[in-house]
Amino acid sequence: LIQLCMQALLDNGDEILIPAPDYPLWTACATLASGTPVHYICDEQSDWFPDLADMESKITPRTKALVIINPNNPTGALYPREVLEQIVELARRHDLMIFSDEIYDRLVMDGLEHISIASLAPDLPCVTFSGLSKSHMIAGYRIGWMIFSGNMSCAKDFLLGINMLSNMRLCSNVPAQSIVQTALGGHQSVNNYIVPGGRIYEQREYIYNALNSIDGITAVKPKAAFYIFPKIDVKKFNITNDEQFALDLLHQKKILITRGGGFNWGEPDHFRIVYLPRIEVLSEAMRDLEEFLSTYRQ
Ligand SMILES: Cc1ncc(COP(=O)(O)O)c(C=O)c1O
Repeated sequence: LIQLCMQALLDNGDEILIPAPDYPLWTACATLASGTPVHYICDEQSDWFPDLADMESKITPRTKALVIINPNNPTGALYPREVLEQIVELARRHDLMIFSDEIYDRLVMDGLEHISIASLAPDLPCVTFSGLSKSHMIAGYRIGWMIFSGNMSCAKDFLLGINMLSNMRLCSNVPAQSIVQTALGGHQSVNNYIVPGGRIYEQREYIYNALNSIDGITAVKPKAAFYIFPKIDVKKFNITNDEQFALDLLHQKKILITRGGGFNWGEPDHFRIVYLPRIEVLSEAMRDLEEFLSTYRQ
């Protein structure tokens, strides 16, 4: 769906604002469609919320749209209403379409509420993405959807392109679609995972505390999804290459993380952990990480 949208939207050289760090498929699909991804910064000091000033400073006459990922992969951030309202205001002022990737919308913790940006922008063309891969942990079924809302009358060419590209696929994933209604109705088993005592919640608590107790690592507490994006003190460990760091950790301790650069993050000072393994596995990994860092210098 991301690829259909990027192909339908972007002509050669058109720009689209994408977060850094991003879920890299957005950048890849924009590039593949001959567009130019322009990355705006999400600010770790502000709970990883988008830096609105940075976003606005990167708008040019060729900017067609902005992308948000809320809740966020890889930071685990959840954007509050005020932040979303400011993004809508900016899109309104600069005539930008909004693409909102909300695939983690059912994985929100701490009693917080996920707000869909489309609900705040009835006058703008919005495309909202979701699916069952995360909330129902059935990524293999390939079930996802996008919702067009707001003022789509100014995006007629885009919709025409989407229709042409969808028709070229000939057939949707019908057998898998037959489970959507059942999955979305009734008891949502994911709710048991994201409250105290639930696996995702308890593993989040564990990983957040364990990382912050390691000398040279700090991490903002994720509010949603199942990722954490810790910062590593690059001076202390003399790290200049995050790919090398990830490979060294993999080879020496058999721990697989993703380097920050994998999310189009410009500095070698972050990495992502998926905290889905059980606490026993996470605690072994954290012990090994601490041991690894006690002698590691790049
Ligand atoms: C932000 C975000 N959007 C979309 C996806 C894609 O999910 P799917 O398995 O439904 O293609 C992912 C998967 O990691 C993701 O993190």
